[in-house]
Amino acid sequence: MGKKVDIDWSKLGFDYIKTDLRYISVWKDGKWDEGKLTEDNMLHISEASTVLHYGQSCFEGLKAYTTKEGKIQLFRPDRNSARINESCKKLLMPEIPEEKFINAVMQVVKANKEYVPPYGSGATLYIRPVMMGVGHNIGVKPAPEYIFTIFCMPVGPYFKDGLTPCNFIVSDDYDRAAPHGTGGQKVGGNYAASLQAHAEAAKKGFADCIYLDPATHTKIEEVGAANFFGITKNDEFVTPASPSILPSITKYSLLYIAEHYLNMPVYEKEVFIDELDQFKEAGACGTAAVITPIGGIQYKDNLHVFYSETEVGPITRKLYDTLYGIQLGDVKAPEGWIYEVK
Ligand code: PLP
Ligand code: COI
Repeated sequence: MGKKVDIDWSKLGFDYIKTDLRYISVWKDGKWDEGKLTEDNMLHISEASTVLHYGQSCFEGLKAYTTKEGKIQLFRPDRNSARINESCKKLLMPEIPEEKFINAVMQVVKANKEYVPPYGSGATLYIRPVMMGVGHNIGVKPAPEYIFTIFCMPVGPYFKDGLTPCNFIVSDDYDRAAPHGTGGQKVGGNYAASLQAHAEAAKKGFADCIYLDPATHTKIEEVGAANFFGITKNDEFVTPASPSILPSITKYSLLYIAEHYLNMPVYEKEVFIDELDQFKEAGACGTAAVITPIGGIQYKDNLHVFYSETEVGPITRKLYDTLYGIQLGDVKAPEGWIYEVK
């Protein structure tokens, strides 16, 4: 398994930890440089960088896992590569070739091997690629230069531990995205726009808020920084469809798992907030959230409880066991989902 740093893996939350090395590459004069690993975790950028003023930035999140045999593997990094390029296109930033992206992720994981949590610890290595506009610029236009960096850290649960249900509250006063805005891309501004709604939800004792569709406020879009899914009373897997939802890699993986591993009918369609009765279980899914069972959703004066506020439902558990089993190498993965870090 190799030497590991002295960390109590079971105590980790979702917090920044400085690991040994990170990758940094600069785009200048129309091309990317080679990129390199560095110990320096501080960026020195122009005060006139577009990332600072105009939010020209996007990011990704993926994880590395240790298998029972001690191998380190990534889950679908090609999907993160494709998605960051969609975000880059949307914000008029240069794309990052897939080979450069995956190779850089591999370099960072290898360089920080001692921080990859061991199999069975419940923790994982969270990898954060970030792309931003830098260089001197003051008008509202794309930056002349870009930095692409990737760092990583061991993490534990994003919400509560393991499969503990959480309650969420519908955000009726705030949207994270506009109807034809950037909700479908992983750009920095969406998260700045979510801070207030999140803070108010947390103040009321909820794990996070549920965002409705910005145009009509009648349909579920996101669960904080995760996608929503529900299991109907007829054992169907349903997840909302909308261009302002971030296309979650976990969600698309669960659609596949529900259909092909659990033999469930699956639907990506509109989910109306006043039709929650159709679901016997519900969950939030994402790289950080993995699968977090939704105990209940507060909407106006009513707390709608799904399976239970304290226990995970059986289908949510099966989805979790299969997804996490694939990520850890315990369950056979569909072709092309797993990349070993050698
Ligand atoms: N929705 C939002 C707004 C997110 O930030 C994330 C995190 O990446 C997700 C959903 C889940 O996406 P993924 O499963 O690709 O991590
Ligand atoms: C992720 O799940 O990777 C996220 O990016 C969620 C959040 C920490 C922003």
